Amino acid sequence: MKPKKFLAASLVALLALPASGQERSFGLGLITPPVHVWNQEVAAMGETLASRSDGRFSVTAYPSGQLGNEATMLQQLQTGALDMAWLTTAEITFRVPAMAALHAPFLVENIADAARVLRSDEAREILELLPRATGTMGLCYAMTGMRQLVTRQPVASAADLSGLRFRITPAPPIRSFFEMFGAAPAPMPLTQVYDALANAQIDAIDMDYESIINFRYFEHAPHLMETNHHMFGMVALVSARVWAGLPEDDRELIREATQEHCDRTIDRFVAEEDGKLARLSETPGIHITEDVGPDFFGDVVARWDAEWGAQTPYVARLRELVASF
Ligand code: BEZ
Repeated sequence: MKPKKFLAASLVALLALPASGQERSFGLGLITPPVHVWNQEVAAMGETLASRSDGRFSVTAYPSGQLGNEATMLQQLQTGALDMAWLTTAEITFRVPAMAALHAPFLVENIADAARVLRSDEAREILELLPRATGTMGLCYAMTGMRQLVTRQPVASAADLSGLRFRITPAPPIRSFFEMFGAAPAPMPLTQVYDALANAQIDAIDMDYESIINFRYFEHAPHLMETNHHMFGMVALVSARVWAGLPEDDRELIREATQEHCDRTIDRFVAEEDGKLARLSETPGIHITEDVGPDFFGDVVARWDAEWGAQTPYVARLRELVASF
């Protein structure tokens, strides 16, 4: 670069850096709608950051995929066009195969154990892979609960799932699971699911109670199988470029505030999961099949482990961790 251009570029970079004491609003993207627990906790995190920074910091949330789908938001984080995002662990699996271990089918039996996995050293180790693979800092995990199967037609046996067009969150390990039991996975972002069901483009969805309630998917798919077949994690991300421009004491402040609201999110999901199922079972028109365990899916869990265990040691490590609970 010519000396003059270099000087100009350096000046722009310097101006973009928030010196200590400067006011700053962090843009934060999410795919979830304002009613979702993640969005509520992001709003609360904005308040925590504002009060701990004496009003220097605030958060401007962009909900419902306003900035694009999760893949687009991840790219924006990488370039520094977006400061922060709360994204699904599913999205990260495209770049960090180790993250697939968190989507291992039937890894945990209940949501309390899902919380323990997300708070484990093993899970934290996976976050250390993010800067190199994604250009982001993964500050902490939270979740949106356990996933269930929701279908338009009743399902009596695994054979009934075969050939169903199943909406899944785009993610290679989730696709594998659905392909292994003979479904036709249709990856699409959360924001398109309701219309796809309403237009009968899909027969079924892989979803959590929070979103089933928020979006009322049961209006078009009234059969819910309580499978708890995988946990659905979230990672609170900060652009590594933005992070690099922050002084250490501000990083610490952001790290602590984010961790607090990740923890609150996890605690809320653990506390509220049973109540959400109870609420759905009282909703007229919904048919719930309770306690559908791994046996329903035959040898799919073993096949999934063989495929994904070959790609990352974290599948075996997380299975061992859960066995020790
Ligand atoms: C989904 O893609 O199904 C999803 C994403 C974020 C929160 C909840 C659900």
